[in-house]
This record gives sequence, structure tokens and C-alpha cells, in this order.
Amino acid sequence: MVTAGGDCPGMNAALRALVKAAVHRHDIRVTGFLDGFAGLLADQSRPLGFDDVSGILTRGGTMLGASNRDDPFRVPVDGPDGRTYEDRSDVVLRTLQRHGVEGLLVIGGDGSLTIARRLEAKGVAVVGIPKTIDNDVLGTDVTLGFDSALAVATEAVDRLQTTAASHHRVMVLEVMGRNVGWIALEAGLAGGGDVILIPEIPFRYEAVAAGILNRVRRGRRFSIVVVAEGAKCPGGRTVVRQIVEDSPDPVRLGGVGAVLARALEALVPFEVRYVVLGHVQRGGSPTPFDRMLATRFGTAAVAALAEGASGCMVALKGDRIERVLMADVLAKPKRVDPQGERVTAARSIGTIFGDEASA
Ligand code: F6P
Repeated sequence: MVTAGGDCPGMNAALRALVKAAVHRHDIRVTGFLDGFAGLLADQSRPLGFDDVSGILTRGGTMLGASNRDDPFRVPVDGPDGRTYEDRSDVVLRTLQRHGVEGLLVIGGDGSLTIARRLEAKGVAVVGIPKTIDNDVLGTDVTLGFDSALAVATEAVDRLQTTAASHHRVMVLEVMGRNVGWIALEAGLAGGGDVILIPEIPFRYEAVAAGILNRVRRGRRFSIVVVAEGAKCPGGRTVVRQIVEDSPDPVRLGGVGAVLARALEALVPFEVRYVVLGHVQRGGSPTPFDRMLATRFGTAAVAALAEGASGCMVALKGDRIERVLMADVLAKPKRVDPQGERVTAARSIGTIFGDEASA
């Protein structure tokens, strides 16, 4: 098995569940490759038995290490003509063969599951477990790690209310969410944020400011703005922090909170401050929901492999864990529906999205 992509709470819990189920129920030997797909390229692994995974249920991150670089289909090679990229997926196949691997379990987000799918096309039996705090994988009601990140982001909104109200300020909280606004929307709603800005709903500074000024007319001399890092500034531009060339998804976002705070300060009669929550929301212990989901996903994934399934991902649908074909769910991200029930509920209570509809 391999834990790939950005870490998140619940990966260890899933790892624990699948190793225990593999040993206890299916009599399967588990090998854990280290640091995501890097471990498969460099042949670095460790055997995983019952004792190795005991005590990790509550620990965030992954005991195997993770990486959101190291795409075996696009390995950077520095030569005299500069950097080029090579397909080294055959190295991965040889590593798997050397270890006698009959099936590969991948705990990953959309990028890592796409790599898993490409390995499947080369003959590897693969089952995926969807994890990412962004919650942007189609086919499952929720991804592993989202609930834990949401709890942290909601607490951040709660805590910012204090200073916002006491000092009559606008406090901007930038949360993660590269392509989608699930964390911003749900933390904003759960924490009582006044303005929520997400990639799915284009906003204008003037419309955000008008919403804040409306609140002033109702006697509210402070506002909390929750903005997803992937929210598009007027003109459709996202704020990029860094490009990581050897990553399956090279663009690293960050900074929209600062840009927004600067723009708003010119439009509202308040001091505007911003906070970037960053990796704090990816760390710490998983929530009870994520521990449960990890246990259900982990055991279901190992059962799927044991039954000879491949090319599928375990998924939460209502109260059931099902298998969905990776081919059906990985083509595009699961976005917030701007006309959906959550956004409608938010608009009904006066939440400002910075668009014409919330004017
Ligand atoms: O996809 C999960 C995620 O946490 C995104 O929300 C964020 O944009 C990205 O990973 C950050 O990646 P890194 O840890 O490389 O900065």
C-alpha cells in the first residue's frame, strides 16, 4: 500500500484498519511503500503487521510518509539541455514484482488516484481510498480528512469572531481548497461567517464591501470573511504562491486573503486583517467521523482487493460504503453547486458571496 498526496488526518487510521483487516480477516501480507510513489520508484518499503499499526488511530498524517510530488509517469531529469521529464512507471512495476505484490491500495486525492489508475492500465490491480481535506473527489459524499479540516477551520472562524467584534474589524480567514470551496463554505456556515468567497462563485470587491456596509446599517460593526485559497479575484485570477514542477498538480495557491484585505481596506471604514490557516487545517488528530470513515474505507478497500476488484475506489454514499469505478469519478473535481442547497441555505440567512445575487 501507499499513502500519497498531501497528508491529512485519518490516513493513519485507514492504514491501521486495512492492515488489521488484511491480517486478521483475509490472511494477506501488507507492505507499506514509503513517501508516496517515491517509495515505489526507489524501492523503499517496510512490512506492516498488527503491531506496527497499533496506537496510530488518533495520530494525524501518515506513518509511511507522503509526497505530492513523485509522479512516476513524469519524473524530472536534469540534463545538459535543462530539465526534461521521463515516464518511469516501469520502475514501479518492477518494484511491485520484486515484492510479489498482487494488489496495490492507494490512499490519495485526485492526483494520486489518477496515477493509480494509470498503473492499473499497465496491469496492476489497484483499489483507491479517497482522502483530501479539499473534499473534491466525485463519487463519494465526502473524502477522508475533510471533516477534521472542517473542524479546525470552523474553530478558527469561531475564534476570529472575538477580535472582530471587540475591535470592530473585518477579519479575513484564508482556508485551503485549490479548486473547490467546500472548506470555506462549510466552515463559513458552521462558524457564522458573514462573507464566504469560493472558486465556484466569482466575486467583486465592491459587492463584498456593499455587503459589509449593509451589515453596518443593521448595527454590525464587524465582519468575518472566509475565503478559499482558490477563490478567483475579479478578472478571474487566482493568487499563486509557487509552482512545483514535478508535482502532478504543480500550482500551489496562497495569498488571496492578503490581496482581498488590501482591496477591502480601501472600500470599508474598518481595519481589515487577514489570517492564513494553511497546514494547521491538515494537522492534528482526526475527528470521530474521520476515524470511523477511515475504518470503514480501510476495511472495505482490502475486502475489494481480496475479492479481485480493481480500478475502483471505495466511496461513502448515504450510509453505505460502495465501490465506484475510478474511471467514472476522476475526470473532474467535485465542485460546490452555486445553485445547490447549501449555498441557498447560506443566502437565505444573508451570507454574502460577493456576487450580484447577494447584493
Ligand atoms: O489538496 C490538498 C491541499 O491541502 C490543498 O488544499 C492545498 O492547496 C494543497 O494541498 C497544498 O499543498 P502543499 O502541502 O504542497 O502546500
